[in-house]
Amino acid sequence: MPKLTYNNQTFEVAKGVTLLHALAGQGIDLPHDCEQGYCGTDAIVVVKGQENLSPAFGDEADNLKYTRYPENVRMACSSRIFGDIEITLYQ
Ligand code: FES
Repeated sequence: MPKLTYNNQTFEVAKGVTLLHALAGQGIDLPHDCEQGYCGTDAIVVVKGQENLSPAFGDEADNLKYTRYPENVRMACSSRIFGDIEITLYQ
């Protein structure tokens, strides 16, 4: 099972789950709204393991491009985990 590290806490999570739902499963509710990738409420920074997330597409890809987030920012609702990853909140 992939390991998700968030704020120095590490959890084993189901492969293919979104970051948002993986954290919710650990009792950590990130701020979120649309759950479609376009509102930006749940932006996170990937510290390690960006290659282990599903690629951005659709509304998330448009949001990342047009809002001009740094390359290591993703939307937790639209990023599925396929390997070990470390993240923190985007501020
Ligand atoms: S909840 Fe809107 S981008 Fe994730």
